[in-house]
Amino acid sequence: MICIDSISFSFECSHTVLEQISCQIEPGHCLAILGNNGVGKSTLLKCIARIYRPQQGRITINGAELNSLSNRQLAQLLAYVPQHSNAPHMMVFDAVLLGRRPYIQWDSTSRDRQIVSALLEQFQLTSYSARYLNALSGGERQKVFLARAMAQQPQFLLLDEPTNNLDPRNQHEILRYLQELARQQQIGIAVVLHDLNLAIRYCDRFVLMKDAAIYRQGGPEIITPQTIKDVYGISAEIIEHQGARLIVPQMDHITKAADDAKTTANHH
Ligand SMILES: Nc1ncnc2c1ncn2[C@@H]1O[C@H](COP(=O)(O)OP(=O)(O)OP(=O)(O)O)[C@@H](O)[C@H]1O
Ligand SMILES: [Mg+2]
Repeated sequence: MICIDSISFSFECSHTVLEQISCQIEPGHCLAILGNNGVGKSTLLKCIARIYRPQQGRITINGAELNSLSNRQLAQLLAYVPQHSNAPHMMVFDAVLLGRRPYIQWDSTSRDRQIVSALLEQFQLTSYSARYLNALSGGERQKVFLARAMAQQPQFLLLDEPTNNLDPRNQHEILRYLQELARQQQIGIAVVLHDLNLAIRYCDRFVLMKDAAIYRQGGPEIITPQTIKDVYGISAEIIEHQGARLIVPQMDHITKAADDAKTTANHH
C-alpha cells in the first residue's frame, strides 16, 4: 500500500499547489485522480514518484519511508508514466527494455528480452519494435511508455493521462487492461483522467481535487451531479444504461456559460 499522509507542496516562491493531501493507493484497486486543469494532479503523482519532495507530510510504500528507498528499490516497486514524455532517439524494443534496468546487473538477459517481447505482443507493438520512437504516432508512443512501465514489473503504477492520445478503442482497451491488472495481479494503480465516463467505468476508487486539496474521496458513490458541479463547475446528469452509469453533461448549461462569456466579452 502507498500511504500519502498530509503532504503539502509548493514550487519555490509560488502558491501552494498541494495542501494537506492524504490518500492511499491500494493493491488490487484502480484509483482515479480527477479535477480541473492546474489543480495539482500531475504534481501529486510526481511527489509519489519522488520527482518532487513535499515540504510537509510523509509518503510510505509498504510501510517504508519513500525517502529511505534506493532508486533501484523504488523502480522495482513503482513505475510512473508522465503526462508528457520526450521521445529519445531510440528504437521501440530498446525503449521498453529500459524498463528492465532496475533488474539488470551488467547486461540484459534473454529473460529480460523475453519480457519485453511479450509486452510488445500484448500491446500490439511487435511490428513496431525496430521503429524509432520519434517516428511513431502520439498514441503508439503512449503505448510504448506504458509497456516500458510494465517491464519494470512494478507493484504500483502511476499513470498521468494515459489515454490522452488514444483512439476510443485503444482508450477502452488500455483501461480494461489496467482494471484487470489491478484485479488479477493485485497491482495498485493511480491514474489521472479527464474523461469521467472512462473513470467510472474502469476505476473503483476516486479522488476529487479542488483548490489544491482533496474535495472528496471514496468509491463510485462519490461521483454525483453535485460533486461534478462542485469540482468541475458543470451540470451533469447521471443515467443508467445497460447496467453502466453514464455521465451526461447538460449542454444547455454549457452553451449558456459560453453565451454569458461572449456577452461579457462584448461589453468590454
Ligand atoms: N515547474 C513548475 N513551476 C511552477 N509552477 C508549476 C510547475 N509545474 C506546475 N506548476 C503549477 O502548479 C499547478 C499544478 O500543476 P499540475 O501540472 O499539477 O496540474 P494538473 O492538475 O496536472 O493539470 P492538467 O490537468 O492541466 O494536467 C498549476 O498551477 C501549475 O501552473
Ligand atoms: Mg497534469
